[in-house]
Amino acid sequence: MEADLHYQFPPLIEPSELAKRVKALAGEIVAALGTEPIIVVALLKGAFVFTADLVRALSQQGISSEIEFLIASSYGAGTYSTGQVTMHWLGKSSLAGRRVLLIDDILDTGLTLSKVKEQILKENPASCHVVVLLDKPSRRNVQMTADFVGFPIDDHFVVGYGLDYAEQHRDLPYVAILPPEARSSGS
Ligand code: XMP
Repeated sequence: MEADLHYQFPPLIEPSELAKRVKALAGEIVAALGTEPIIVVALLKGAFVFTADLVRALSQQGISSEIEFLIASSYGAGTYSTGQVTMHWLGKSSLAGRRVLLIDDILDTGLTLSKVKEQILKENPASCHVVVLLDKPSRRNVQMTADFVGFPIDDHFVVGYGLDYAEQHRDLPYVAILPPEARSSGS
């Protein structure tokens, strides 16, 4: 563990590992897409931290980005998946003819990203590539793969680096498996 950091939960992925992987991911994206400008579509709220770091790493490696935000949710009022994805854009440029990089925090069942990508493709972008920080391949129940993956993980509920439990823990600078006691107490 990084000695100078206070950890509320045992880290699964430490800040230094996140920083190193984000930089490497930016390199993979540049190698695959080249350095022509892109338009990033970031899914809120979970991808806000990852997006902030990734677009700066991309800029350092020669790709400039415009950034759009989309609130996408695959859940209704409860904790079960409705099978429906609601989407709400916060303003929006046209995606027609653009090189889109769709960014999410985690690829789980695949429902959210598959529906969002489907909507984006209807706008006839020049291309649409998907990048996720985390991928839980064992949970997939619709056909969806990301073009770029930060870290494949096992089937754990994780928080931190933008990911939440009941709107808590997005601010942790590391990714942690949510301990059962934190889940039951709601803290
Ligand atoms: P699907 O199933 O549509 O889900 O691929 C993607 C969305 O589900 C949320 N999700 C999580 N959020 N910890 C979280 O904080 C997790 O372990 C987790 N797994 C899925 C997340 O909002 C993601 O965008």
